[in-house]
Amino acid sequence: MKTSAADVQDGDEIRARRISDDASLGATSVETSLTAGIQPERMALHVTAAPWGVILLFLLALLSFSSRVEWPPIAPTEGQDPSSSSLNALSGSGLRSADDQDAQRGESAFDFGRLWRSSGSSEPELRSALGDPGMRSDKVRVAAEAWNFCNRVGMQTDSALSPRWADCADLSPSLSTSGELAVDDPALREVLYKVSDFDNELKTGDSFPQHEGEEFRSVDDPDLYAVEKEKYLASLCAVNQPVPWHFWMIMLKNGNFDLKSNLCPIAGSSASNYSVSDARAQSYVKSQPVRQLLEKEGGFPCFGPGCMNQPLLYHNWSQLEIRGAMDSGDTTKSRSSLTGSFYGTYDLDSEDSMDSSYFSVRWYKNESPGSWTFHHVLRVSDKYPWLMLYLRADATRGGSGGYPWDTRGMMHTVPKSPDFKVVVSLDVIRGGGSKSQFYLLDIGGCWKNDGNPCNGDLATDVTRYSEMIINPDIDSWCAPDSIDLCPPYHTTAEGEKIHRNDTAKFPYDAYHLYCAPYNAQHAEKPFRVCDRYSNPQAQELQQLLPHAEWAVHGYPAKKGDGWVGDARKWELDAGVLSSRLYFYQDPGTPAAVRMWPSVDVGTEVYVSTTSETAEWTMVRLDEQVVYDSRIGVENCKWDRKLQVSVSVE
Ligand SMILES: *[C@@H]1O[C@H](CO)[C@@H](O)[C@H](O)[C@H]1NC(C)=O
Ligand SMILES: *[C@@H]1O[C@H](CO)[C@@H](O)[C@H](O)[C@H]1NC(C)=O
Ligand SMILES: *[C@@H]1O[C@H](CO)[C@@H](O)[C@H](O)[C@H]1NC(C)=O
Repeated sequence: MKTSAADVQDGDEIRARRISDDASLGATSVETSLTAGIQPERMALHVTAAPWGVILLFLLALLSFSSRVEWPPIAPTEGQDPSSSSLNALSGSGLRSADDQDAQRGESAFDFGRLWRSSGSSEPELRSALGDPGMRSDKVRVAAEAWNFCNRVGMQTDSALSPRWADCADLSPSLSTSGELAVDDPALREVLYKVSDFDNELKTGDSFPQHEGEEFRSVDDPDLYAVEKEKYLASLCAVNQPVPWHFWMIMLKNGNFDLKSNLCPIAGSSASNYSVSDARAQSYVKSQPVRQLLEKEGGFPCFGPGCMNQPLLYHNWSQLEIRGAMDSGDTTKSRSSLTGSFYGTYDLDSEDSMDSSYFSVRWYKNESPGSWTFHHVLRVSDKYPWLMLYLRADATRGGSGGYPWDTRGMMHTVPKSPDFKVVVSLDVIRGGGSKSQFYLLDIGGCWKNDGNPCNGDLATDVTRYSEMIINPDIDSWCAPDSIDLCPPYHTTAEGEKIHRNDTAKFPYDAYHLYCAPYNAQHAEKPFRVCDRYSNPQAQELQQLLPHAEWAVHGYPAKKGDGWVGDARKWELDAGVLSSRLYFYQDPGTPAAVRMWPSVDVGTEVYVSTTSETAEWTMVRLDEQVVYDSRIGVENCKWDRKLQVSVSVE
């Protein structure tokens, strides 16, 4: 890649806050916090391609037939899971089927179909993109993955084997039809496990059993082995209805980064021995400003050698749980369902301390056949001040946001802007402190700066992220005096473009920060480049804050909305919102199709100086897409050949 002057000048990885123009990054008055993130993505798509009038009408039409149901706020009380009392209220309000929508549409003042496709005759149909729409399946389909700082495995230790695990279980047929126990006979309750300890304990280099005739390749590289292990576990968990799908994915990431470990090659260096073969990467890492930035307080956290370790993960296998009317003695109303959890810590030596890092994700249904509830806890510690925990719906195959290798997941149809919305109920019980960047939706996609879809070439693929941060403690870094942290322009819902230098009109408060991919050759100056280590390829980030500008799409309107004590059901027109965002693209290139193979909710506690705990429940996630038979995971598939390895001389 050619290095532009701006890139060099502005290329201090960024989430640099209010860094003064002179490059004296060491100046004590400068407050700096590096970001590396997991989240960044941005691509400048020319938003002009979006038919704004049509989008607006689409939104109106959507609103006209989908009533907004507020999730009743619940005051958490001691000893009671705060989410449970609300489940009854939710269970009756499932997502509408396409039929229901048709009925509603008939009553609507708008002819939805004609609005949407002025030229076509067929009416668009909203369908779920997920294998388990609204999380209503009786089957447990959960997997967990752990990533190091740069979305790889890195060092593998005895206590953390190849970091992919799954818990997939069905209820025996006699119980699964309605979840209701005809006879309260424990002998009838049977859990059919699809995955075993043997499978979860597979470690790099182990050979895989054959499953359904599929062969999985054993390799000695931990990063590549994890890819194969995920595919293997998925083959055990696959549900073939309506089309093959696998599992919800719990994603853990350790933000510690030891630059001296050489474990995370700088993005864009595709060779395994990047430090030798990529002179530019080498000089970048060694350049004074970057060194200073990294070594400064607020740079990449690391307590010393080994700080990039994978977690210790424990597993409570799914087991039968009888809930309902047991207390009242009325067994005819009792229901059976499954419950289980993954939990653990990053602190390898002091697991039991209350100050140690901790995470857990527990799944249960308290009113079968209701939706799954996923209950999450994440605690950061002194040694692990930057941790991430998300629940993701990833594409059933192909790459996913931030991860350039083949993955397995829940989404059989990859959502495309602007044709999708996401429905989710979220109850944030504890926020996780002032550094907890809680994402009420983090969507990740991948396309090149010339608008083409990604194809696995790490030098030109660009991960794009759009994230709505709902913690009211998180401020806007984009500001009139820091326009380098703003996108070049904002597009209103009406389609008006407002340049970031228009201080009277630009909604600075609607953005936390924006950063450009390092390989954006024509990015408008001044700009900041997203961190080049935390993803294997370039990334672009659009981090948003609650604002009236986004509220028109169902997102929080102001700080505090959806936060602790304000549990809600959200219907987010994520497709329309993401089509409004600026993402970089090379001048004169055709607008990229914005596909989003990862949709997730969770938090990134971004370098906390104190031990903090975040806790939340999430229920009934669904994604609805305007159904188009031409769009499926095939369109978003970049089955990366497994040639990348991370060993460094
Ligand atoms: C590593 O770098 C050396 C020296 O530049 C080069 O000859 C070699 O092909 C590289 N190896 C790989 C796997 O790229
Ligand atoms: C795992 O199971 C044990 C024993 O039943 C229980 O004490 C513990 O709370 C469970 N952990 C989680 C995170 O669910
Ligand atoms: C704002 O930016 C636009 C686009 O770069 C430029 O044309 C305009 O002159 C700028 N206005 C001011 C006041 O800087």
